[in-house]
Amino acid sequence: MRRLPERIELKTREQLALMRRAGLVVAEALAAMKAAAVPGASTADLDDVAREVLARHGATSNFLNYHGYPATVCTSVNDRIVHGIPSRDERLREGDLVSIDFGAIVEGWHGDSAISVAVGEVAPEVAALSAACEAAMWDGLAAAHAGARLTDISHAVETSIRRAGKYGIVAEYGGHGIGSAMHMAPHILNYGRPGKGPKLEAGMALAIEPMITLGRRETQELDDGWTVTTVDGSWAAHWEHTVAILDDGPWVLTAVDGGRDELERRGVAVSAAAA
Ligand code: MF3
Ligand code: CO
Repeated sequence: MRRLPERIELKTREQLALMRRAGLVVAEALAAMKAAAVPGASTADLDDVAREVLARHGATSNFLNYHGYPATVCTSVNDRIVHGIPSRDERLREGDLVSIDFGAIVEGWHGDSAISVAVGEVAPEVAALSAACEAAMWDGLAAAHAGARLTDISHAVETSIRRAGKYGIVAEYGGHGIGSAMHMAPHILNYGRPGKGPKLEAGMALAIEPMITLGRRETQELDDGWTVTTVDGSWAAHWEHTVAILDDGPWVLTAVDGGRDELERRGVAVSAAAA
């Protein structure tokens, strides 16, 4: 039997305004963690920074205790793709690439975003890997407009990655709906043919998060029950933003400028809601 598609939550303008507040807390914390990701810092130091920003804004964590997750941030270094657990014993070293993934809740509404950060100077192919992943995320965000179909986003992400080079595209993890919870319908693959899936409507909010590798796409979970690594040991990059869909265009809630710069570069006007 064919499964009915899960309903996608539609937000009011007031609810999106609360999601924007959560998004700006996330953006501020990620910027602070990026600055703190220097050689010699531990990944737990980044978690400390994030908790301080949450407390200052009276926001709470959607990661902490999520299915028992033990931290406020996910820090995934080098061959770790996602869901790495911060540790006092894990020190960042010059040349590392760390994915810093973080979310916040403001008055019940969620934001979720991730950046990959170069620690000191990284190898050119590692910088290119991260740049390709970030560009693919923005190409996906630029495809998130009312009237399009869900897999138009997936297709935009995949096309962008394939144009950039020969990368593994992680298949087991992807983007998701977000709003009154962090992980909601729909699941968003980072590859696929366009024109399929639910029609995108104003009031939806989605987290778009490509993960790509320098080698093969296969993943494995470590014994800690969380950390996801590549099977072949190749390094991975991960970028994520939360975007709201409005009638007049996307609004990237976790980007300080609402996504204006990167979307305009792609010929897409950001929603007037971002002003
Ligand atoms: N941003 C992460 C994602 O969408 C959420 C991590 S959940 C946690 O995959 F429990 F690992 F924190
Ligand atoms: Co996410």
